[in-house]
Amino acid sequence: MIRSAIIPVAGHGTRLLPATKSQPKEMLPVARKPIVQYVAEELVQNQIENMLFVTGRSKTSIENHFDSDPELLRLLTEGKKDDLLGELKFEEMAAKIFYTRQRVQRGLGDAILCGESFAGENPFIVALGDSILGMHGNSRCVTRMSELFTVLRASCVIAVEEVPAEETRHYGIVDPGEGESDWVRIKNLVEKPDPSKAPSRWAVAGRYAFSPIIFDMIRRVQPDKRGEIQITDAIQLLCEEGKRVLALKLPKQDKRYDIGNFPSYFETFVEFALADPLYGPDLKKRLRELLADSPDNS
Ligand code: G1P
Repeated sequence: MIRSAIIPVAGHGTRLLPATKSQPKEMLPVARKPIVQYVAEELVQNQIENMLFVTGRSKTSIENHFDSDPELLRLLTEGKKDDLLGELKFEEMAAKIFYTRQRVQRGLGDAILCGESFAGENPFIVALGDSILGMHGNSRCVTRMSELFTVLRASCVIAVEEVPAEETRHYGIVDPGEGESDWVRIKNLVEKPDPSKAPSRWAVAGRYAFSPIIFDMIRRVQPDKRGEIQITDAIQLLCEEGKRVLALKLPKQDKRYDIGNFPSYFETFVEFALADPLYGPDLKKRLRELLADSPDNS
């Protein structure tokens, strides 16, 4: 089983300005928690014991979030606020957390390369810090990826989800080959193709399992037009070398919530808040009233 994960969180989040002007998009709250907390808790649920966050300038609030705050603890303990103390239990997360910085933003491939010493000789997961898998981050997808990786001796396993044709230009898209019920072998993949050129509608969904051989591939990748080293190109090299690269199809209950733009951020927030056991039912009532009063309804 895979026990380590790299979580790239170095991106600028420009599609979410001004909300992300001085705070990382990974720290935006979705219902009660910041996005990155769902990601870290999902990884712990999937037996990940070591996590490396690849951060950048202006991302220090992520480190602060996972660190303990003795003053806050003292205040809540003295005030006997047991319920609020319970909200800080995640600080005792059953995983070791490490941080490193990508000094210049040169793309996702380059950010992953920052984790080479951390990974060492072991396979590892990459979990994008702006994508939540499953409602409230409850997903076993990484465990299944890890099983496939080990049993089928793969060099790479990628989680994929089917997207509408007009959305292929936002994702890495795989060219699928033979497979079984929940996985297929990948022949090739293309980064953000136009729908007319997309080899399928299966999109790379923010979770990858890699053998450390990927680092050599990343080093061979040429920067794209924007000067970025794409991880998709490095995986393409694995395919060309005849390595076993597999796609795991996300099960329906593991819907992916991609917090890369406002429409998907709003939808995710509302969906998660509605599913909140404490506040969800009242919010549902209020939303119904708001929708009934909305001028679009008249
Ligand atoms: C990245 C990857 C892309 C993948 C996407 C998933 O793109 O390059 O292949 O489909 O994440 O969220 P980004 O969203 O960083 O542009």
